[in-house]
Amino acid sequence: MTFLLFTFLSSPATIAQTQPPKPPIQLGTSLFPNSTHASWLSPSGVFAFGFYPQGSSGFFVAIWLVDVKTVVWTANRDDPPVTSNARLQLTTDGKLVLSDGQGEEKVIANASAKASFASMLDSGNLVLYNKDSSIIWQSFDHPTDTLLMGQSLPAGDQLFSNSSRINHSTGRFRLKMQGDGNLVLYPANTTDTRRDAYWASGTVGTKHHLYLNHTGLLSFRNSSNFDLKFLNNDPSLDNDLHSGNQTIFRATLDFDGVFRLYAHVNNGSDKKICSWPEGNTCEVKGFCGFNSFCTFNDDNPECHCLAGFDFIDPSKETLGCKRNFAKAECRGENDSVAFYNMTSMYNILWEDHPYFKVVMSWEEECSFACLADCNCWGALYEGGTCKKQGLPLRYVRRIKGSDAYGDSTVVVFLKVGNNSLTNWKGNDKPVPKQPPPIKTTGNKAIGHIIVVTTVFALLLCASIGISSHYMYKIGVLRYKRLMETGILGLNEGGSFGAVYKGALNKGRRLVAVKRLEKLVEEGEREFQAEMRAIGKTHHRNLVRLLGFCAEGSKRLLVYEYMTNGSLGNLIFGAQRRLDWNDRVRIALEIARGILYLHEECEAPIIHCDIKPQNILMDEFSTAKISDFGLAKLLMPDQTRTFTGVRGTRGYVAPEWHKNIPISVKADVYSYGVVLLEILCCRRNIEVNVSVPEEVLLSNWAYKCFVTGQLNKLVLWEASDKNVLENMVKVALWCIQDEPVLRPTMKSVVLMLEGITDIAIPPCPNSNSM
Ligand SMILES: *[C@@H]1O[C@H](CO)[C@@H](O)[C@H](O)[C@H]1NC(C)=O
Ligand SMILES: *[C@@H]1O[C@H](CO)[C@@H](O)[C@H](O)[C@H]1NC(C)=O
Ligand SMILES: *[C@@H]1O[C@H](CO)[C@@H](O)[C@H](O)[C@H]1NC(C)=O
Ligand SMILES: *[C@@H]1O[C@H](CO)[C@@H](O)[C@H](O)[C@H]1NC(C)=O
Ligand SMILES: *[C@@H]1O[C@H](CO)[C@@H](O)[C@H](O)[C@H]1NC(C)=O
Ligand SMILES: *[C@@H]1O[C@H](CO)[C@@H](O)[C@H](O)[C@H]1NC(C)=O
Ligand SMILES: *[C@@H]1O[C@H](CO)[C@@H](O)[C@H](O)[C@H]1NC(C)=O
Ligand SMILES: *[C@@H]1O[C@H](CO)[C@@H](O)[C@H](O)[C@H]1NC(C)=O
Ligand SMILES: *[C@@H]1O[C@H](CO)[C@@H](O)[C@H](O)[C@H]1NC(C)=O
Ligand SMILES: *[C@@H]1O[C@H](CO)[C@@H](O)[C@H](O)[C@H]1NC(C)=O
Ligand SMILES: *[C@@H]1O[C@H](CO)[C@@H](O)[C@H](O)[C@H]1NC(C)=O
Ligand SMILES: *[C@@H]1O[C@H](CO)[C@@H](O)[C@H](O)[C@H]1NC(C)=O
Repeated sequence: MTFLLFTFLSSPATIAQTQPPKPPIQLGTSLFPNSTHASWLSPSGVFAFGFYPQGSSGFFVAIWLVDVKTVVWTANRDDPPVTSNARLQLTTDGKLVLSDGQGEEKVIANASAKASFASMLDSGNLVLYNKDSSIIWQSFDHPTDTLLMGQSLPAGDQLFSNSSRINHSTGRFRLKMQGDGNLVLYPANTTDTRRDAYWASGTVGTKHHLYLNHTGLLSFRNSSNFDLKFLNNDPSLDNDLHSGNQTIFRATLDFDGVFRLYAHVNNGSDKKICSWPEGNTCEVKGFCGFNSFCTFNDDNPECHCLAGFDFIDPSKETLGCKRNFAKAECRGENDSVAFYNMTSMYNILWEDHPYFKVVMSWEEECSFACLADCNCWGALYEGGTCKKQGLPLRYVRRIKGSDAYGDSTVVVFLKVGNNSLTNWKGNDKPVPKQPPPIKTTGNKAIGHIIVVTTVFALLLCASIGISSHYMYKIGVLRYKRLMETGILGLNEGGSFGAVYKGALNKGRRLVAVKRLEKLVEEGEREFQAEMRAIGKTHHRNLVRLLGFCAEGSKRLLVYEYMTNGSLGNLIFGAQRRLDWNDRVRIALEIARGILYLHEECEAPIIHCDIKPQNILMDEFSTAKISDFGLAKLLMPDQTRTFTGVRGTRGYVAPEWHKNIPISVKADVYSYGVVLLEILCCRRNIEVNVSVPEEVLLSNWAYKCFVTGQLNKLVLWEASDKNVLENMVKVALWCIQDEPVLRPTMKSVVLMLEGITDIAIPPCPNSNSM
């Protein structure tokens, strides 16, 4: 009979005919599952309140969209379902009560006063009124996982997801409208701490509530219902959806932890409009449980156990994983070495809260340190530091190749028992797909786009990348000329051309599109070979080239977009001086990036234009070098003498002016200058200084070094005098006029890391020819 009921209800037209707008629900009215009185419909028949079937014979009390049977509100969602003997009644003494058929009664609407009548409104709101027709209770005040049009999420309140697609009980994620104004997504079982958050609106400031209006806009409103900001303000929102009043918008925190806005058109279709976080469900912290990680293929998140672990419940893969071997008894250091082995995985990170951190020079050392330590179950080796971790491992995630250090600088080690490796089916290679074949372009639109920006255009581009996972489908690129010059470091002479901001994947991924100008004449094949060489570079401290286009003489390069601008802006332009420790970190990051270009990638690349404007900062303020590999396109044959000077005044090595071959040492020189600039937060050449000897930073730095007055350089900021002195010494070695005196980047990194000692540098220009 329930089945019949729904067949009947799923035709709204019929309802509209046979059920004229309802009078209010009177006291004494009841609903029964398995009957024609299983629900109260709203006047138009779009929403229903009543018994909703759960499983084969259970029911729960809910409000749902009739034609798609989408539940938008649930009463007492964590109670077990009731049987078909249950009864829902608006009692004569003005209460809405559920009797479960076994003699238990439960209040559905905890109203402050006696109700006189109730009403299921067309907005999806169930309302109880007193005798003055004032609202005394409404379901809109008690949202579960969904906001409907006209509904608010007040400050301090939260939505909780479903526990699964078919289970309405409280799930694993929550969306909180915080009192500080920020709308934040967290795993349900956490406190409001930043490390647990996986998405935030960033609207911190004033207290406000989240509101969904009737045209599908989610806004932050202050207490006088003034829209302060919008969460979605996409003009590309389907106009059809907004026309008329047929569309029902709802914003739901789905069981997978993603907050989505849907448009429901009253013909049985539900359309997804926006998602937060957008794109990859694996960004949802805790989507996969303890000791497991998430991969995202074909729009489908999947959980995989780490090496040495099996699913707790193979039918519920999101529940997490447990050790698949017995724990050996452990009495002290080295005691358990015989019982375990270590296995390594790349491109994996987990929540960073090690119980022990130590500097180590070799990965193997870190691996052994964990093996020998009874409490260590995993170790993360990153940038020369070994971090030991106990179980469980939380928020394990794969990281993009481009986020990781070049080859093996981020590696995790896991302790495994004697059988686990054979049981374990190679989960560290979950991206086996081949990249799609590189496509050469021939699209007439290219020139047009460049001229007419902010226009949609279909653009075929070749994608470069190793894992298909991070490749962008050939698709629609949307361009907007970057207003802020300098955001990509191209505001000075010596730049390669205009830069545009673009978006891929329907705006999900921002990119920077660079149009090369002033190219030396060159065939398409050479250009493509060069692009592929650049595309093969993968290093945490290099800006990633995602793709390119070549047609005729037009050349476009598509890079990942760097949100935090250039290092130049940061150290020369910023209001607040960048923190000393951040500067030290950035200096090391740049050195690692250059080292990779010089020694670690397939064909060594001389950058030729290292300067703060070419170092870009990503959202996590990691420094990334841009524009590498391009010098060759402008000056073929790097090994020979260059005819003109490339690079930028103040940063170029003296040999550029001397008609002698340029080597990687030219970059070392520029790095030395940049290092000094980072340390001192000023340009190498600064005319507006009080003392003439301070005009040229490199000379002044040497003077301060010799006279032991290094603190003058950094305004007494450096907390560790030795670090400061070492860094200045490294810089002075790098800016030696004589290329052979300059260290290699490898030595620079070792010296900066404190691994090798640093000799006293001579005067940078004393050996000059
Ligand atoms: C109610 O309906 C369910 C399935 O639709 C059926 O299994 C059950 O026997 C029915 N109960 C009564 C009392 O009719
Ligand atoms: C009902 O509401 C009152 C205050 O309005 C609250 O103190 C009480 O805990 C609520 N009861 C239930 C069962 O929610
Ligand atoms: C729904 O999920 C909750 C919590 O995960 C669980 O306790 C309950 O048994 C589930 N209900 C059904 C019908 O599967
Ligand atoms: C929540 O669970 C209910 C009941 O199974 C289901 O109808 C509804 O679609 C679920 N909602 C979401 C957002 O998954
Ligand atoms: C929730 O938190 C409690 C206390 O921190 C913890 O014991 C429990 O394992 C957590 N449950 C899940 C599913 O994370
Ligand atoms: C929703 O908000 C937008 C922006 O303020 C406004 O243009 C639109 O008219 C609003 N819709 C309704 C139905 O109020
Ligand atoms: C809401 O914002 C509007 C515009 O900023 C302002 O005029 C109004 O006073 C604000 N209301 C409250 C209660 O802050
Ligand atoms: C929808 O629009 C029609 C006419 O355009 C109007 O009569 C009707 O009241 C509207 N319905 C709602 C719920 O706004
Ligand atoms: C429902 O309406 C939308 C918008 O008018 C339309 O795009 C879609 O094709 C319709 N679907 C069906 C099944 O009629
Ligand atoms: C554990 O083994 C390492 C390497 O073999 C050794 O250096 C260390 O002294 C050992 N520790 C103890 C307590 O035996
Ligand atoms: C391997 O595991 C078994 C039990 O699973 C244990 O008895 C045995 O000692 C282990 N062997 C080694 C070398 O750890
Ligand atoms: C560790 O690995 C070695 C070499 O693969 C193997 O011989 C040994 O049995 C393994 N030990 C354990 C405890 O699995």
